[in-house]
Amino acid sequence: MKGVVLAGGLGSRLKPLTAVTNKHLLPVYDQPMIYYPIQTLVNAGITDIMIVTGGNSAGDFLKLLGNGKAFGLKHLNYTYQEGEGGIAAALSLVEHFAGDDAICVVLGDNIIQGNIRAAADSYAKQGGGAKILLKRVSDPQRFGVPELDGKRVLQIEEKPANPKSEYAVIGIYMYDADVFKIIRTLKPSGRGELEITDVNNAYIQRGDMTWDELEGWWSDAGTFESLLYASNLVAETGANNQELTYAAEASANS
Ligand code: DAU
Repeated sequence: MKGVVLAGGLGSRLKPLTAVTNKHLLPVYDQPMIYYPIQTLVNAGITDIMIVTGGNSAGDFLKLLGNGKAFGLKHLNYTYQEGEGGIAAALSLVEHFAGDDAICVVLGDNIIQGNIRAAADSYAKQGGGAKILLKRVSDPQRFGVPELDGKRVLQIEEKPANPKSEYAVIGIYMYDADVFKIIRTLKPSGRGELEITDVNNAYIQRGDMTWDELEGWWSDAGTFESLLYASNLVAETGANNQELTYAAEASANS
């Protein structure tokens, strides 16, 4: 499986911190934000990685990350997203990189306490389709929220006013190569973006989606509150802990 870190977008919710630099270069406790999603992939045994960046300071990613030596990598791939067309638009840029391989996509502002090795292994055995990871949260209306029927996911709603569960769809997704065909069918949402939630709903409609529940804490870092929250969590417990894995038995076909 290949890895993708999506670090485009304009980081508007963090202005003025993002007025002259890229959100994913900001510190989360003692490391630049982008270090965490890269480490998440590397800890899952994924070493062929593409970084999609965009907006301000794109050249600084190369300066900071180089060929990925800090993560034990020999090479990193980079591409650039013009504008802020949405998460699925950013993902569409990696089609040539993915080829026929499955991909694990991590949003550049998503940080986890544990690791996703077990989820990646169970996805590899699944033989295609998609897998999402869920986490119970106190503020689901900020996220993609699944409607569940036991172990089946019926649909996902993006930032619903009246969430149908207490779970958030976290920003770590596993897809087969069909994802690019699905993205080509998407229309921009109300906020003018190609939504990753629409991609996930397409897999759900095909009956090709599984989910695992995340162990350990998870946070995004795209607002002042969540950036502070994530920084405090990292300071308290550290992130990307190798010993914490997913409960693979939580997985089920929809
Ligand atoms: O954090 C998990 C949530 O991320 C999910 O629960 C939601 O379903 C998903 O839509 C997303 O919600 P956000 O509104 O928080 O996404 P945001 O616009 O903050 O983008 C998250 C990351 O995706 C960002 O750090 C970089 C990347 N991105 C985003 C956009 C809009 C891009 O690479 N390009 C883009 O155009």
